[in-house]
Amino acid sequence: MRPALTRRTVLGLMAGSAAATFTGISAGTARAAVPASPGVTYTNTIAEQRADPHIFKHTDGFYYFTATVPAYDRIVLRRATTIQGLTSATETTIWTKHATGEMGGYIWAPEIHFIDGKWYIYFSAGAANDIWRIRPYVLECADPNPITGTWTEKGRIALPLDTFSLDPTTFAVNGTRYLVWAQDNPPVFGLGTNLYIAQMSNPWTITGTPVLLSRPTAAWEKAGGATVNEGPAVIQKNGKVFITFSASATDANYCMGMLTASASADLLSASSWTKNDGPVFASFAATSQYGPGHNQFTVSQDGKSDILVYHDRSYKNISGSPLNDPNRRTRVQKIYWKADGTPDFGIPVAD
Ligand code: AHR
Repeated sequence: MRPALTRRTVLGLMAGSAAATFTGISAGTARAAVPASPGVTYTNTIAEQRADPHIFKHTDGFYYFTATVPAYDRIVLRRATTIQGLTSATETTIWTKHATGEMGGYIWAPEIHFIDGKWYIYFSAGAANDIWRIRPYVLECADPNPITGTWTEKGRIALPLDTFSLDPTTFAVNGTRYLVWAQDNPPVFGLGTNLYIAQMSNPWTITGTPVLLSRPTAAWEKAGGATVNEGPAVIQKNGKVFITFSASATDANYCMGMLTASASADLLSASSWTKNDGPVFASFAATSQYGPGHNQFTVSQDGKSDILVYHDRSYKNISGSPLNDPNRRTRVQKIYWKADGTPDFGIPVAD
């Protein structure tokens, strides 16, 4: 999420919030909550004050959990043999921001991945002397247990454009690894973060020219005074690749959009991707869930259900900047699949 509001965006904020109130996207597009099938009912909240959650189910029988902490100053890890167990699991700080220089500002949205036998954490960081100089970085751990193991800094993911860039996520299709991230390009597109994809030559390096996948152009992507596509997350199913992302300001306007491509298509071609016209997951007043987003995906213990992992707040109105409100909390719920092979995220279920 980009920093301070300029005068222009303050005006947009007033208009945007009115527009956000008007859209009422949750009332218009929500389905009645479908009860989760046995074995995948969870008690939410999974973790209080843990935003941008990432849960990774490893082959060692553990779920690994990381997320953004309100202080934006460190990377924490938990592990448990069940998703629900993460709630009470011990939380270990595996890395702390630098006192000076890069990786010394805001620390945002860590993700933990296991690639070619090693652990990697992808995250965004500002600089100690410029907290808004946000760029993507990678840590690596070769030990079996990433909570007790040694983490080394692989450094910044070099991007051709040196601008505000955040929320890196990685996935592989047919043996090719990709990176998707959010980045702005003010001279070309003005204020706002867009989604880009590039192939990776190793887990901390992209190769080739990044491809623009999505820009925030619709009202639901520009509500609350922020023009935002960010927080990409990938789930593959039914021969398709789905990239969900978050849009608008990180308050009650925050919601999820989705891009879809065939797994056999050229994923580095923008024309392979189609974008849903409206949000696929949004605030829902009837269950008192506001600003759901910056999601990720995992699977149930029996491996039979796909699980949506996301954050939101239990209240709609925030005083001051949403980034200074600490109460984005981690939640999970079962994903249902439509007959056409696409995910139906439904509504954010009640606590
Ligand atoms: O939570 C910190 C940042 O807020 C995340 O990196 C971004 O997705 C959101 O705007």
